[in-house]
Amino acid sequence: MSTAAVIAIAIAVVVVLGAVSFLTLARRSDVRGAGALSNETLSRDKDARKDSKAFEAAETSSRTAAVAEAEGTAARGSGTALATVDDDVALVPWTAPDPEVIGVSRRQFFNRATVTLMTASIGTFAAASFVAFLWPSGTGGFGGAVPVGKLEAIKAGIKSGGGFFYAPDARSWITEYPAEALPVARTIYPANLLEAMENGIVILSQKCPHLGCRIPECSTSQWFECQCHGSQYNRVGEKKGGPAPRGMDRHPATISGSGDVVIDTGVTVPGPAIGVNTTGQEAEGPNCTSEGTH
Ligand code: FES
Repeated sequence: MSTAAVIAIAIAVVVVLGAVSFLTLARRSDVRGAGALSNETLSRDKDARKDSKAFEAAETSSRTAAVAEAEGTAARGSGTALATVDDDVALVPWTAPDPEVIGVSRRQFFNRATVTLMTASIGTFAAASFVAFLWPSGTGGFGGAVPVGKLEAIKAGIKSGGGFFYAPDARSWITEYPAEALPVARTIYPANLLEAMENGIVILSQKCPHLGCRIPECSTSQWFECQCHGSQYNRVGEKKGGPAPRGMDRHPATISGSGDVVIDTGVTVPGPAIGVNTTGQEAEGPNCTSEGTH
């Protein structure tokens, strides 16, 4: 994936997370119109009134108990009989907490937890994107520059692979391009493809230009033959048969002075038109698939 795509995705994610955080915060202050009291406020007022009555009763009770204790202390000091404690003093009964209050607290907890997690996620993602953006990367994945090894090693791989070398990171096939076909190739192929061809190789996208299946090689015919609908291409990806609208698509490549081959998978050059046959290669044996027409 290209750097621009990563940045675009990062921005989109940050915007979405920001919107979610904003909505979460806004929900907490939701009211039903100017001057209207929310359910939470009304509930708190009711509780406050209840608490006030309970507080007055508790205060009266505690004052009565304090007076009785003082009288007892005085009686003990003077040797007189203790006064009896008034059994009618009402104890404040325990009341269960209002479920509404508990609900509000739980809601507040989840709101705050959500906002905290969102903020942490956004911060982490932004930091990771920033580091990834600045981090130097010499080996890009598919969609960028993909190093595939030394030219001589690739040519050896083509020979040992029976005429075909597969570069998985570049999702490409590499085959030999014959030097004798170069004069014709220079009149047909764009300049950005010629550097590889002048060095004896051609880089072909594995994706069939018909409907996108991965095209396998056929070791007997020495062609590429798509199993999906029977499109056939010669060893340098020029169309020989089937429903494909053109030859196999290609990627440009650069070859350094030390022979390192780097395929630019960010650029795809459409395959040559039907009828182009710069090498004149015919099937060298039985085909792997019958030529399709659909
Ligand atoms: S996808 Fe290859 S022939 Fe249809």
